[in-house]
Amino acid sequence: MNIALIGSGGREHAICRKIFESKITKKIICLPGNAGTSKIAKNIIVDILDFKKVLNIIRQNQIDLVVVGPEEPLVKGLVDYLNKNKIRVFGPNKYASKLEGSKAFMKKLCKKNKIPTANFKICNNRSQVIRFIKKNNLPIVVKADGLAAGKGVSICKTKNQVLEISNEIFRGKFKSSKKLVLEEFLDGEEASYFIVADKNSFKFFGSAQDHKRVREKDKGPNTGGMGAYSPALIINKKIEYKIINKIVKPTLRYLKQNKNPYVGFLYIGLMIRNGEPYLIEFNVRMGDPECQVIIPRLKTDIVKVFRNTISNKLKNTNISWQKKKCMTIVLCSKGYPGNYKKNKVIKNLNKLKLNNNDFVYHAGTKIINGITFSNGGRVLNITSKGSNFKKIRKKIISLIKKINWKYGFYRKDIGWKVI
Ligand code: AMP
Ligand code: GLY
Repeated sequence: MNIALIGSGGREHAICRKIFESKITKKIICLPGNAGTSKIAKNIIVDILDFKKVLNIIRQNQIDLVVVGPEEPLVKGLVDYLNKNKIRVFGPNKYASKLEGSKAFMKKLCKKNKIPTANFKICNNRSQVIRFIKKNNLPIVVKADGLAAGKGVSICKTKNQVLEISNEIFRGKFKSSKKLVLEEFLDGEEASYFIVADKNSFKFFGSAQDHKRVREKDKGPNTGGMGAYSPALIINKKIEYKIINKIVKPTLRYLKQNKNPYVGFLYIGLMIRNGEPYLIEFNVRMGDPECQVIIPRLKTDIVKVFRNTISNKLKNTNISWQKKKCMTIVLCSKGYPGNYKKNKVIKNLNKLKLNNNDFVYHAGTKIINGITFSNGGRVLNITSKGSNFKKIRKKIISLIKKINWKYGFYRKDIGWKVI
């Protein structure tokens, strides 16, 4: 099969590598990819939101299957567009992608289907915000309705903060929507649960916990994710049963009833409190960096998973996992998530001695004349598998020290809850 993979992050490098290992794969193109994918696939630079150009590239390269990594093309309807043009695509359509593309849609769906989630109010104006503040205790969580590149959620400790942030959203801070959702704050431990779904059934696709804050001890501003580990040990059999029956099944049933069954990976972001899972968010894709710790544990051929999902044959597809644990630490450009410099050479990558359990997934990198440069905030995902999280982390840190990239930084405490 000829496969096109859309995206350029660590998530896509991890998926690309797994596609590369499949016997079914003939050729891979990445749109646009990064320095890591360029070694195992052909990168083609294109604006992935320019659907017409994407379609042309897919036709020119005789692609049999397209896999979409990030949320934005999904939310904007790339799957619908390609399907209309008779291209086979792995990923949810525009309607189903509203699970991530509109927090208001997601919360309404929860209410209609009695899915456990934080109490909320969808607001279009200031007086609705004031009413919510009067009725609810602080902190209050303010969420922009539409996609906001990870910057749409604020946990507010004062009423004034709630009002200020709400005003900014009403005034159009985020182009995607001027609506917002106010939520009660849920205390607990966060974890993510993943499934892959076709029109008729779904299968478990790993669990993970990530670290969103930039500094150690989970301090400082939120980021795209500074590191992750899999599996999420907090999700025991009892909690898993509740996630499936109280959250996953009602959601898939509702979308199917609305004639838009969910197809693709679904990321279920949870807060676990007193043994009860509450839905915090849906993402209509794999997580980044969660994907980088889940994919290395996958035993099954990933192309078979993609192919059988699109042909609605998931029910009879056995997806199996290694017992090993996996962790990734993200090496970031100094200054991230604020301002940082790009185009800094990363010299020592070739010197790393990686065994079968170690992976360096590229994220914000590019390669020019064989030299690797940084090209983003999150630059590399140093990943390793083993039987003990403490030893895995030690191994990863020793690899990062060998890279010795003076323009970078990383968190040394990834996995502190399980170590
Ligand atoms: P979201 O984009 O909805 O996942 O929110 C980003 C992050 O904000 C989550 O990963 C949580 O850490 C935090 N968060 C969101 N909603 C809540 C909530 N209702 N209570 C506590 N923390 C929350
Ligand atoms: N790591 C969080 C996300 O992918 O949304």
